Amino acid sequence: MPSALKYLTGSEIRQKFLEFFAARGHQMLPSASLVPEDPTVLLTIAGMLPFKPIFLGQRTSEYDRATTSQKCIRTNDIENVGRTARHHTFFEMLGNFSFGDYFKPEAIAWGWELSTKVFGLPPERLVVSVFEEDDEAANIWRDKIGVPPHRIIRMGEADNFWTSGPTGPCGPCSEIYYDFHPERGDDNIDLEDDSRFIEFYNLVFMQYNRDAQGNLTPLQNKNIDTGMGLERMAQILQGVPNNYETDLIFPIIKTAAEIAGIDYATSDTKTKVSYKVIGDHVRAVVHMIADGITASNIGRGYVLRRLIRRVVRHGRLLGIQGEFTAQVAETAISLSETAYPNVRERAAFIKAELQREESRFLTTLERGEKLLEEILAKGAKQISGKDAFTLYDTYGFPLELTQEIAEERGMTVDVAEFEAEMALAQERSREAHETIDLTVQGSLDELAEKIHPTEFLGYTELSSTALIAALLVDGKPVEQATAGTAVQVVLSATPFYAESGGQIGDCGYFSGPDLLVRIEDVQKESSIFVHFGYVERGTLTVGASVTAQIDRACRRRAQAHHTATHLLQAALKKIVDDGISQAGSLVAFDRLRFDFNCPRAVTPEELQQIEDLINTWIGEAHDTQVVEMSLKEAKAKGAVAMFGEKYGDWVRTVDVPGVSMELCGGTHVKNTAEIGLFKIVSETGVASGVRRIEAVAGPAVLEYLNLRDRIVRDLCAEFKIKPEEIPGRIAQMQDSLKAANKQLDAMAAELAVAKSEQLLSQTESVGSAQIIVANLGEVAADALKTAAERLLDKLGADGAVVLGAIPSADKVSLVAAFGKNINQKGLQAGKFIGTIASICGGGGGGRPNLAQAGGREPAKLPEALEAALTSLRASLS
Ligand code: ALA
Repeated sequence: MPSALKYLTGSEIRQKFLEFFAARGHQMLPSASLVPEDPTVLLTIAGMLPFKPIFLGQRTSEYDRATTSQKCIRTNDIENVGRTARHHTFFEMLGNFSFGDYFKPEAIAWGWELSTKVFGLPPERLVVSVFEEDDEAANIWRDKIGVPPHRIIRMGEADNFWTSGPTGPCGPCSEIYYDFHPERGDDNIDLEDDSRFIEFYNLVFMQYNRDAQGNLTPLQNKNIDTGMGLERMAQILQGVPNNYETDLIFPIIKTAAEIAGIDYATSDTKTKVSYKVIGDHVRAVVHMIADGITASNIGRGYVLRRLIRRVVRHGRLLGIQGEFTAQVAETAISLSETAYPNVRERAAFIKAELQREESRFLTTLERGEKLLEEILAKGAKQISGKDAFTLYDTYGFPLELTQEIAEERGMTVDVAEFEAEMALAQERSREAHETIDLTVQGSLDELAEKIHPTEFLGYTELSSTALIAALLVDGKPVEQATAGTAVQVVLSATPFYAESGGQIGDCGYFSGPDLLVRIEDVQKESSIFVHFGYVERGTLTVGASVTAQIDRACRRRAQAHHTATHLLQAALKKIVDDGISQAGSLVAFDRLRFDFNCPRAVTPEELQQIEDLINTWIGEAHDTQVVEMSLKEAKAKGAVAMFGEKYGDWVRTVDVPGVSMELCGGTHVKNTAEIGLFKIVSETGVASGVRRIEAVAGPAVLEYLNLRDRIVRDLCAEFKIKPEEIPGRIAQMQDSLKAANKQLDAMAAELAVAKSEQLLSQTESVGSAQIIVANLGEVAADALKTAAERLLDKLGADGAVVLGAIPSADKVSLVAAFGKNINQKGLQAGKFIGTIASICGGGGGGRPNLAQAGGREPAKLPEALEAALTSLRASLS
């Protein structure tokens, strides 16, 4: 590398980039969350993503120009991480953006000035690419900037037409490359040759929207979107051979190397790959958890789980046996905390989540390793795809790990069968998710094109007249429906709330002259509300007018539960952890259910405190305030939004002043006092890292308490006692049950002994030894032992007793009791019984004179006892 380059730290590069554009009229904005508002992508994949609605003209921006350093995650190249010099899952993208303001000339000129003047890259080391049809950009580079024409490379759509996904804003782009080896000459420049070139800056001239069919329509504005890879610029300016060895990542590798005790610098390529994977992935998982993602089996939770598992697995490849992720995460947190303070604020949570996931995976790995050993022991040349899939699916063993281990033993894996199994499993899970009635859906999609969106009146009206806009019977559009028919009805406007945001749809009635339709559920299909009901009386006709009236009592119950859900979230944050976030909810007429991200169970004491706090808030009679405002204002006021939920620009906030503020479209009580009472029914775990609280509020509390009360009353009647006597009575009953069981055991033992005494007559003499080997049948282990002891008492120092029994259908019990003289002949009861038990699929041991064992294969007991007899005869004769 040329000595002229000035070393800059990662932080300095970030700072200089942002300051350069701030000085040119760009608003400096913080990085958005890794969890995007855009529902079409799982994770934030580029600096432009938070601005997508602005590019598409769906949202106006307060600024014409912005600059950011955006946290990004891409996992499409995960297998390349650590193997090439610059692939990442997590990276920071430095960007400057123009929203209908400047375009190609400025973007190119500033890109060049920044690269050559601020970062000091020698112009003769730079090569640029342009889209093959983009003469305008090529001319600017040549005429205005002075790049020699042979260093302006035209490239096709695959390389130089950037789009954020299959659909969305896009446009031709121009990239700036750094040349590590100018001495190789300018003939035949190949920008794909990454031993020579690194692309570090992409300027996108964003001027089209691409639809699902691939059609391009010009955007209203011409925009600029750029991305400079922070890690790449760091690699260039720090003169290191790859991104992982920059100051942004290398300290993490060093920490891992200290734990593993293998020096990075002198290690082989394979070891280095493991270090690089750890360095890369640890940054990703730290930021993902900081942004509220927890490990799970779906969506971004699965991405997180996969990354954590890869870290753990590469740790094991380095020989690290115990838990280590929290320790490497601490280094990653220290590296990021200045630029992203939330990682330090959430450090404890991040480490707890990592540790939980890691220890769980380690256990799984160990179980999987055992299974793999069993598979390998079968001695086949190839591990079947089925086995490899079980290892993958049940034990989290990536195929490549199974392959690696198989390879070490000179075996292979049937990859084709593995892939077929995988495809089958995916098919199964797709089917499991296909819950929508497609016949209805198909017709509704057609209807949606013809019908206006339903106007929702239900925030203020409980009843209104409306026209029947559409009618479906068995999923097919009809003109009329008569009494006795199940129908789906679309109205022009409705007071009925359609299920959304966890709150279930209203129920109620449609009525008219001689018409009555009972409505049991309401679902939203895009912007149309579909009422599911049953014609009780009269005929329902498209175009006719009806009075739609919701069931007020049900609505009041839903409202009590919905506002109580908000209070519950606020109380959880206050009492358990401010980092708790909602993972799902159900607001029904008879109960509420709230799922939240939390790595541990909520304790009974905390639950009591939560319940008390919520009842205090209810008693304080707070007015609720529903206000619409811009998303920005709502966020500034601290409104709680659900991660991953899509919100428009204009949002509805539900505020219980001083207690809770959430973005919410549901219906709520006007004053918390209307809730009446709140009672937690249960707290359970529903998925890894996700807890669930079920609770009741309002009239549902009375129902819940009545139910409990009835149970207590029935118990009192049954036992003829008072409620307060129940605990004492139960304790008493447990005691007497215990005593009765003990008696029963003693009697069973007596019976076994009595049975065994008959065996004395079958004693076999071998030399001076007296042998009894017998099967006592259905006898408990304790009784069997007593019987053996008694028999030995009778036989004395020369006695050798081996008894077997089948205490239950799938269990074998064995006991050996040997007298002193038998021991002296070298026979130990412990060792002896262990060998015998192994015949019935078990094991055990004990003292030389008395030992017990168990097994799982009752059918093998006769064989085991036969072996015992043969062995005793042989040893004692
Ligand atoms: N959005 C462009 C990219 O990600 C800058 O490369």
